[in-house]
Amino acid sequence: MKVDLVTEEIAAASADLIVVLVNSSLESSSLDAASKGTKVDLRELLEEEGFGGEVATSRVFRGLGGLKSKRLAAVGVGDGSGHDYRRAGATAARLASELRAESVAIAVGEDAGAYAEQLVSGWHLGCYRYTRHLSNDEKRFAGPTALRLIGPGAESNQPLVERARMVTDAINFARDLVNDPPNELVPASLATAAGDIASTYGMSCKIFEESELHEEGFNLIMAVGKGSEHPPRLIHLTYRPEGEVNRKVAFVGKGVTFDTGGYNLKPGGSLLNMHCDMAGAAAVLGAAKAVGALAPRGVEIHFVVPTAENSIANNSFKPMDIFRGYGGKTVEIHNTDAEGRLILADALAYIQEHDVDTIIDLATLTGAAVVALGEEMAGLFSDDDELAGGLLSAAERSGEDFWRMPLNRKLDKGLDTANADMKNVGPRWGGAITAALFLKRWVDIGAWAHLDIAGPAWAEKESEIGPEGGTGFAVATLVEFIDQLSR
Ligand code: BES
Ligand code: ZN
Ligand code: ZN
Repeated sequence: MKVDLVTEEIAAASADLIVVLVNSSLESSSLDAASKGTKVDLRELLEEEGFGGEVATSRVFRGLGGLKSKRLAAVGVGDGSGHDYRRAGATAARLASELRAESVAIAVGEDAGAYAEQLVSGWHLGCYRYTRHLSNDEKRFAGPTALRLIGPGAESNQPLVERARMVTDAINFARDLVNDPPNELVPASLATAAGDIASTYGMSCKIFEESELHEEGFNLIMAVGKGSEHPPRLIHLTYRPEGEVNRKVAFVGKGVTFDTGGYNLKPGGSLLNMHCDMAGAAAVLGAAKAVGALAPRGVEIHFVVPTAENSIANNSFKPMDIFRGYGGKTVEIHNTDAEGRLILADALAYIQEHDVDTIIDLATLTGAAVVALGEEMAGLFSDDDELAGGLLSAAERSGEDFWRMPLNRKLDKGLDTANADMKNVGPRWGGAITAALFLKRWVDIGAWAHLDIAGPAWAEKESEIGPEGGTGFAVATLVEFIDQLSR
């Protein structure tokens, strides 16, 4: 969606809805301007309405005189932090959808520069709907189509607004990938999506198809994908910046396009929404799209996605099968539902051969992480304090919640087995930790972090910044992380 920035008076603005941002002390230069235009003391009116400027609250006024627009809404920005403005932008978008407003003008004060990026990010995230499979026109109202930021010197915010669009486009792209149903989005679809990103932004892209996966010894990816009519893939997309390279980073994302559990079949209720089991892959491809658009300097970035469908067939992999993973270690399968760590193991072992200094993997890996942290927070596992700190500060800026979890070595022996180098599950308790320790067995470099996003990758209900379904979680944090490195 296009966002225009114009120096324009509120009274003269023609839009289906005008939004005025108001903080918790009901102070706002645009509220003053709107009061002047309408000859109504809007602050008094808001006070009478019991409006306190709290974030994500709003009041709508219709039929005010002196305005070109029929409706004016006050949207709260609370104390006015960046996160508050992101939530306010999303609130404005939701309100516009409810009111069926196609064009919206948000009045921003002179200090807009400090928050224009978050405001517009919130707006784009709040506008997102997954409508591909809706045939009913009423339901299809896809939200507003035009936004204008109006106010004195609004034009100066152009670069920030452009950045917000690039990053949120990438988040919404990841949401689409997660929401696409599993009969349509299969491993080859993720490969196609990666190929499109590569050709749009001039990146290199290597796709390993079945025969090559087999020849090169990616036996764990092959094992997980064995029972499916949609064969597995390994995707390796590379961004090389112009000029000097100071850092080489790899993002690795779990791409299980549907997780039935395999022979360790999931119970009925747990099968629902298991097409979200490629949300790690979606985050990695979303980050690739953002990186392509932003073209950060100084950092080479590898985007790696092992992808397979974990389904049941006579030839599916079974408990007690033993496979040799990429690089030579062997795994005895004790549970076919612990498949994510298997495909990640091959991918982690592979990317280490590419001279990267940092590896971050993202996966909807364990239900245990959701039990520990709830549905809105991701687990961060890393032995490297600097890397963990960098990710946490990136997350702080993106507004996403991560919590550092221990890689408790005492649990590692739970992965030992007599017949192979390891088995793919440990004892029942501490499941998110043993899953992380399993991955750690495939990584030799210290600067590795594992992000278990099983909770926040999917929203059961609509939230302030998006509808139910895929959230695009972690794209924003990865982008901020790269931003930190390229400074
Ligand atoms: N994809 C699931 C984890 C998951 C659970 C993601 C809930 C999103 C929401 C993963 O492959 C899985 O099934 N893990 C098992 C591991 C167990 C067999 C050791 C789990 O968490 O139960
Ligand atoms: Zn599983
Ligand atoms: Zn899974």
